[in-house]
Parts: sequence; structure tokens; C-alpha cells
Amino acid sequence: MATFASLGLSEWLMEQCKQMGIARPTQVQENCIPAILEGRDCMGCAKTGSGKTAAFVLPVLQKLAEDPYGIFCLVLTPTRLELAYQIAEQFRVLGKPLGLKDCIIVGGMDMVAQALELSKKPHIVVATPGRLADHIRSSDTFNMKRIRFLILDEADRLLEQGCTDFTKDLEVILGVVPAKRQTLLFSATLTDTLQELKSIAMNKPFFWENKSDVRTVEELDQRYLLAPEKVKDAYLVHLIQKFQDEHDDWSIIIFTNTCKNCQILTMMLREFRFPAISLHSMMKQRQRFANLAKFKSNIFKVLIATDVAARGLDIPTVQVVINHNTPGLPKIYIHRVGRTARAGRRGVSITLVTQYDIHLVNAIEEQIQAKLKEYPVEEKEVLKILTQVNVTRRQCEIKLESTDFDEKKEINKKKQMILEGKDPDLQEKRKNELAKIKKEKKKFKEKIQETIQKKKRKMQKNKLKTTRGRVQEQA
Ligand SMILES: Nc1ncnc2c1ncn2[C@@H]1O[C@H](COP(=O)(O)OP(=O)(O)OP(=O)(O)O)[C@@H](O)[C@H]1O
Ligand SMILES: [Mg+2]
Repeated sequence: MATFASLGLSEWLMEQCKQMGIARPTQVQENCIPAILEGRDCMGCAKTGSGKTAAFVLPVLQKLAEDPYGIFCLVLTPTRLELAYQIAEQFRVLGKPLGLKDCIIVGGMDMVAQALELSKKPHIVVATPGRLADHIRSSDTFNMKRIRFLILDEADRLLEQGCTDFTKDLEVILGVVPAKRQTLLFSATLTDTLQELKSIAMNKPFFWENKSDVRTVEELDQRYLLAPEKVKDAYLVHLIQKFQDEHDDWSIIIFTNTCKNCQILTMMLREFRFPAISLHSMMKQRQRFANLAKFKSNIFKVLIATDVAARGLDIPTVQVVINHNTPGLPKIYIHRVGRTARAGRRGVSITLVTQYDIHLVNAIEEQIQAKLKEYPVEEKEVLKILTQVNVTRRQCEIKLESTDFDEKKEINKKKQMILEGKDPDLQEKRKNELAKIKKEKKKFKEKIQETIQKKKRKMQKNKLKTTRGRVQEQA
């Protein structure tokens, strides 16, 4: 059996691994680390939760220790803060003895502060392509000419043309990084985009893939539950109630298809007194991050998320993943259910399947090379709560529509501004500044008025005193 020492890892890094509770390399680490240390490009396709992050973090840190400078390594990830932060944290924890400087460049955060950080030459930059490309286009205070490692985590997502298309931004980034570099590509689902990936990793990359037939992990118990659309929510409430009753220590991620559904389900589950919190792409970045932190620290035990949380997130306490909708693509299914049963732990996934989704389940089963088993449920129990659940959902929908109205108005105003060529954020900032100045002016005016009044009162008092004095004298 391989050890980190046999892979050529330095003593100090092995000590860091030990402190993190990492004793032996996983298969992807065992196979990819030596190739990376040799200086080869690398493509690693390994199952969810199998330690792909450390498979690139460890060799990069070893090379960085030999020749430390900034910017040494650039890591690209498709999703914002959550995943980028997680990767940066692994670098930070494992690279602590190096006094590692890292920097996270993602959308939704202050661009000026980010530019300042970039100019300080951090060793590691973890970024989403869109925001990093913006910095490259607009600033000359940093350069990536000497980058030694370019890493694409969730590489297939970065290259596919989904609702967020990264290809243009990737072109910009690839234009400023040196041709002589090591390129490392990782994902649990690399095979669809293999050819495009090979063109990014130019130097005959070392390719490693899990050899097992089944593409999900053994420790995952994969279930489905046939539920007509109208009773889906009742099944969901029933399932969560069951987990709450049967386990002391439990935590669940529920995936759903839209931001709106995510909001409604969260409101609905809260009406049933479940500690639920949401994570979706329409939320502000800071809010998303705060919600995720509350879920991670177990304050909230149910996270309702869209596919922003489907990839990469590593939350060891998650024992259950529920797919409120059957994912349309097998690949998304693989990443979603991979949020549980990580690093050798056990986990359960339950996919709610309506009469219209059977073909999707077939496609999933074909891809993962395994059959989902039916999850047994006592229908009677579900029927008991059916009306109450559906009424509650309707109430939540009405509530959301009314609160959403103002928000939509604000969004439309912003859209209009963009169409007129104005920057809504800048306008907002100016508006706030103007309001501040007006407020200060008002305060100042009030103060002046007050002093004038005071003086007037004093003068009147004095006048009164002198007339009284005169009257008394005359008397
Ligand atoms: N050699 C190891 N032994 C035990 N645990 C490990 C080892 N390497 C990494 N881990 C832990 O395994 C967990 C999952 O790792 P990681 O997030 O890197 O998985 P991944 O392969 O990137 O999964 P995904 O495809 O979902 O992104 C982490 O908590 C990490 O600390
Ligand atoms: Mg990962």
C-alpha cells in the first residue's frame, strides 16, 4: 500500500497531512501526485469525495516550498465563493508552515480590494473565470507571466457551454498565462469534454481515471421514490420528519431546480418547524456564504439548494441528499449525490421521481452503471399530511409573490439602467453618497438654526433683563 513518503512528498507536508487527519493517500492522490511532482501535466477523473483537492494542493505546495514566489499557482473553479474558499482553505491549512499568501477572486465581491490583493503577489490565486478575466482586462497592476501551475477544478464544467459560458473568459486567461507551465485538470466527470481538455493540457498529460465500473461511490445508498407532482412536497416533509425522528445527528441537502422553488421550499419547511436554510444563485454573495456557514456549523440542519451547491462542496456531516426534482443530466446527478458519502463515510440519496421523469432515471442508471433502489414509505402517513402541506405551500407562494414584487421592481430599474449604458452599482453608490452628503448638510443646517435660536433667546432674555432693570430704576 502506498504512503505519502513513497509518493515523494516532503516530511513537512506529511506532518501537515497528519494534523488534518489524512494518514494515507487515496487512489487519485497515489496516482497523480508522483506525475505532478515529475513536472507533467495531469488529468484526474476520480469519484466525488475522493480527495482530488489534496491531489493537486500537496504537490503544488511542495514545488512552491522549493522556489517560493507569487503568483505561483492559479486555480480556476466554476462556482463562486463557496468552492473557491474551500480550495483556498486547503492550501492555507496544508501550507501553513510556508506562511502562504492566497487570494480569492470571485464575482459579487469588492473589485478594488481584490485588485489590491492581486498586486501584492499572493502565492496562490483561486478564482472564477469571469471575475479574473475582468481584472485582466481592466488592470495592469499584476501579471501572471510567471505562473508555474494552472489548475482547473471541476474542469468539465469550466469547458462546457451551460447557462454560464466560461469559454470567452478562459480565452482571456489562457492569453496571459505562460505557455511553459504545468496544467492540472480534475473532476468526477471528465470524460464528456476530454478532447477540449487535452487541448488546454498541451504536453501529453498524464491521465488517470477510476477503473471501477460504477461511477458513484460504494458507500452511497442510492434510492428513488415515485411521487406524483402534486404529492411531492408531502413526501419531502414526511422524509425529513422521519430523519429528524430517527437520528440525533442529522443533516440533509435538498436539491431543487429553480431559485424560486428553493425559496418556497425553505419557507414551507420552516412553517413545519424544520431548521431549514437556502442557497441559490439569486442570493447576494455574502448571504450565500453566511447561510452555508450556518449549515456547516449545524445551526440549520436542512440546506435547500439549486445546482450552485451541486459540485465540489465538502461538508462531512451531510448524511442525506434529496433530489426534489430528478436531474435532467446524469452528470448533475453524480455531483449532487456526491455531496454525501464522502471520504469513505456512508450516505443516502433519495431522488423523487414523477411519472414524467422515468426516462431521466433510466439515463442516470445507464451512466452510473448502477440501479437505484426504491425507498420504502408508509403512504398512509404521507396522506395524513397531504392537505396541510399543499395549503402551506400555496400560502408560501402567495407570500413570496407579494414580497418579491418590490425586489422585481428594483431589478427592472437596474436592467433599464444597464440598457441606458449606466452602471447601476455605481449609480447606487453615488446615490448613497449623495444621500449622506444631504443628511450631513441637513444636520449642519439644523445645528446653525439651533445656535441662531439660542442666540436669539439669549438676546431676548438680556433685553428683557435690561428693560426690567430700567422699569425697576424708574419705579
Ligand atoms: N488521503 C486522505 N485520507 C482521508 N481523507 C482525505 C484524504 N484526502 C482528502 N481527504 C478528505 O476527503 C474529503 C473530500 O475531499 P475533496 O473535497 O478533495 O473531494 P473531491 O474528490 O474533490 O470531491 P468532489 O468531486 O465532490 O469535488 C475532504 O474532507 C478531505 O479533507
Ligand atoms: Mg473537488
